[in-house]
Amino acid sequence: MDADTFVARLDVMQALDSFRVYKQETFELMGLKPGMHIADIGCGPGDDLGKLALQVVPGGSAVGFDLSEAMLEEARRRHADVLSLSFRNAPANELGVPARSFDAVRADRVLIHVPRPQEALKEMIRVTRPGGRIVVSEPDMPGCWVASSDYVLTGRIMQSIAESCVNPYLARDLYAMFHDVGLRDITFSMRSVSAFDPQSVNKILDFKSVLAGMHARKLFTDDEVTRWITEFEERGRTGRFVAGLPVMIVSGTTQD
Ligand SMILES: C[S@@+](CC[C@H](N)C(=O)[O-])C[C@H]1O[C@@H](n2cnc3c(N)ncnc32)[C@H](O)[C@@H]1O
Repeated sequence: MDADTFVARLDVMQALDSFRVYKQETFELMGLKPGMHIADIGCGPGDDLGKLALQVVPGGSAVGFDLSEAMLEEARRRHADVLSLSFRNAPANELGVPARSFDAVRADRVLIHVPRPQEALKEMIRVTRPGGRIVVSEPDMPGCWVASSDYVLTGRIMQSIAESCVNPYLARDLYAMFHDVGLRDITFSMRSVSAFDPQSVNKILDFKSVLAGMHARKLFTDDEVTRWITEFEERGRTGRFVAGLPVMIVSGTTQD
């Protein structure tokens, strides 16, 4: 997928009310105050960090890290007017900044894409000061669903989408991971993101490509695909469409 399509997809998600609610919870868990130095790992186009940067002024700073130069270009373009905000190209597993650089560090919807996510969490801890906050939120990809009378086919479609992530089940492991790396004051919550507009969901999940890939592997017949798409569209037209995704939010404090 090209960067423009990916950014457009992130923008569709960012605009959903239920996304804003869970993201707000992740913001609050960081415990931000003016003067703090904070980081967002896998910041994408930087819209979350743009909001958070305003909470740490005066005196604070916010750094967004991402592996994709195209994302960082977009982030710099969108937030050129926020002086306390900067962006760096670095992989989550090796951020390339000194230990204890930040008071609070977050990652949202990133570790499911990162090889060796435990290493990335340890890197987040390394760059956080003792007693600082770490907040990670990840979608439970295999728990993603859309309303359809064909539960079996829908389950297979969702499984195929989940398997396109490096670590589809990571959200279920996050709580244990926070314990294993010795974080304290660990919190866990699970929120649901929901969407009622099939066009938005289609933009996010790109059913056309998913179905084409599954069809090429002969995982179902033409008739099954046609029936599934027809019902998807019909539910949209009649206001009977809904889709959901659980998101796990885990936070912890680094040892003093
Ligand atoms: C789904 S987007 C989430 C962006 C942002 N956190 C948000 O919630 O809008 C995932 C982001 O993680 C970045 N990413 C993926 N793998 C990464 C890695 N190994 N290290 C750093 N960033 C990575 C991608 O380039 C992308 O910008």
